[in-house]
Amino acid sequence: MIFTHTSVMPQEIREYLDLKPGNTCVDCTLGGSGHALTSLKAVLPGGRLIGTDQDRDAVENAHKVFEPYASNVHIFHDNFSKVPRILDSMGIEGVDGILLDLGLSLHQLRQGKRGFSFKGDEPLDMRMDLRADRTAADIVNQSDEKSLVDIFFKYGEERMSRKIARAIVKARAASPITRNRELSEIVRAAMPAKLVHQQKIHPATRVFQALRIVVNKELERLERFMEAVPDMLNPGGRICVISFHSLEDRIVKQQIRAFEKGCTCPRDFPKCVCGFTPRLKSVSRKAILPTQEETEANPMARSARLRVAEKV
Ligand SMILES: C[S@@+](CC[C@H](N)C(=O)[O-])C[C@H]1O[C@@H](n2cnc3c(N)ncnc32)[C@H](O)[C@@H]1O
Repeated sequence: MIFTHTSVMPQEIREYLDLKPGNTCVDCTLGGSGHALTSLKAVLPGGRLIGTDQDRDAVENAHKVFEPYASNVHIFHDNFSKVPRILDSMGIEGVDGILLDLGLSLHQLRQGKRGFSFKGDEPLDMRMDLRADRTAADIVNQSDEKSLVDIFFKYGEERMSRKIARAIVKARAASPITRNRELSEIVRAAMPAKLVHQQKIHPATRVFQALRIVVNKELERLERFMEAVPDMLNPGGRICVISFHSLEDRIVKQQIRAFEKGCTCPRDFPKCVCGFTPRLKSVSRKAILPTQEETEANPMARSARLRVAEKV
């Protein structure tokens, strides 16, 4: 079965990637292949699409979606941090467009059965790549209390981290926590009732986000990828990144700014001695947000923000 996915900000991605027939583009996060199919159609005839996803289901789905275009499409079951190496191995020196649409696909959330969401009763796994060795349950059951506090605070920006970590350590002493529902109930019970009622989001949202980030090493991989962007793009080529939380967006924004600035010399140096020159320029100063029309029709788009940069 081919699964479809309502792609976030489709119009904006088409417009900002600005692909032309004959171009080479990379979709680093295939998911339901919605954006990737649009990009492929924009580069045909003569162009090609390279696609990666670390989730086996997304890759199997992409093979089906792109079956009619096999000679123009190359799909890899890999982490996007490997894209520079993949391009090297294909002898590609530069591409014209790169898309990262971060986070989870609807398929992972609804049918993944890996406990990404606090809804339902599923194994507490959260690996996007099932070849990875550590699951969310491993982290929850094996980390000491202080490490749990740090994880929830740093990656979930959760103010109740201490209370939640203490409750987890107490619960797991009776029996290991192996299901998403168990964890979600422990988190809810650890929170002051007043706060639970005040919050607009589910009380376990931040804890689940933090665990998912750690299990999938999301921020490290994004950082590594962003550092390599100018080396992968042709002059005038563009990168579009859609992120869904401030930790990801900060990494993207700061790396684009650093490449835009070029020089790394301290401000009080009379002249540049580092020799670094600008390698990217932002296409829009601020993050681009989905339209109100889109967020009303697709609540998944609510927290999306898009950043776009061009190789100079
Ligand atoms: C929001 S979905 C992408 C949706 C897609 N753009 C579409 O139009 O259907 C995010 C996808 O990125 C994948 N992903 C997230 N981080 C990744 C990484 N570091 N390397 C490879 N794939 C990743 C996830 O497995 C998921 O399938």
